Amino acid sequence: MKKLIIAIDGPSGAGKGTIARTIAATLGYRHIDTGAMYRAVGWKADAEGITLDDESAVAALAERAAVIVEGGVVSIDGHDVTRAIRTPEIDKVAATVARLPRVREVLVSRQRSIGEAGGVVMEGRDIGSVVFPEADVKIYLDASAAERARRRANDTQHTGGQAGAAAVAASIAARDQADSTRSASPLTIAHGATYIDTTELPIEQVVEAVMTIVRQRSS
Ligand code: DC
Repeated sequence: MKKLIIAIDGPSGAGKGTIARTIAATLGYRHIDTGAMYRAVGWKADAEGITLDDESAVAALAERAAVIVEGGVVSIDGHDVTRAIRTPEIDKVAATVARLPRVREVLVSRQRSIGEAGGVVMEGRDIGSVVFPEADVKIYLDASAAERARRRANDTQHTGGQAGAAAVAASIAARDQADSTRSASPLTIAHGATYIDTTELPIEQVVEAVMTIVRQRSS
């Protein structure tokens, strides 16, 4: 069977991680969380004391850093940052890093090399629009802001377990704003993407909807 490139985009808390992971496991594909790459670079910039408005310095860091985001573990230059990158501080740092066009260039090029051979489910904001505009399957997952905040508040992996619902809702709203208004590759529904509103859908139903498209494209 043809090894597809499956792009899953959408805002924070829309269910990309859960759906991408399940689809990848079902198909025996690799699951690549590109948001974790922006987070890891942000974490390292912070750790090295690099100011985030120094675009050249952050891009140089991204260029030289070895970032691994497979198998549920995120590491940068050998440091396991799987948990360290899921904090409210790194939420903000990653959104700032993701605004920098030169950093995006470096990470997009990495993402293309990781995914070009296919057999990959890649999740992010610009996968179907910029990274792989020719992806075999493009999905845009969405959910109401209230539902996305509720999911994030219950997701201790993302909040570190200490965030209240109101703080999560405010942080999601701020990131929605940052992700969709930045000039470099803003969050957008890619041409040819299937839009799925997951607000009231159980996970299994979303997985089934995506798998139906995958089956159509792989035959
Ligand atoms: O999906 P996430 O919340 O872990 O992503 C972290 C940040 O990186 C978020 O502000 C969106 C941004 N991002 C991006 O601009 N492009 C991607 N392909 C993935 C994430």
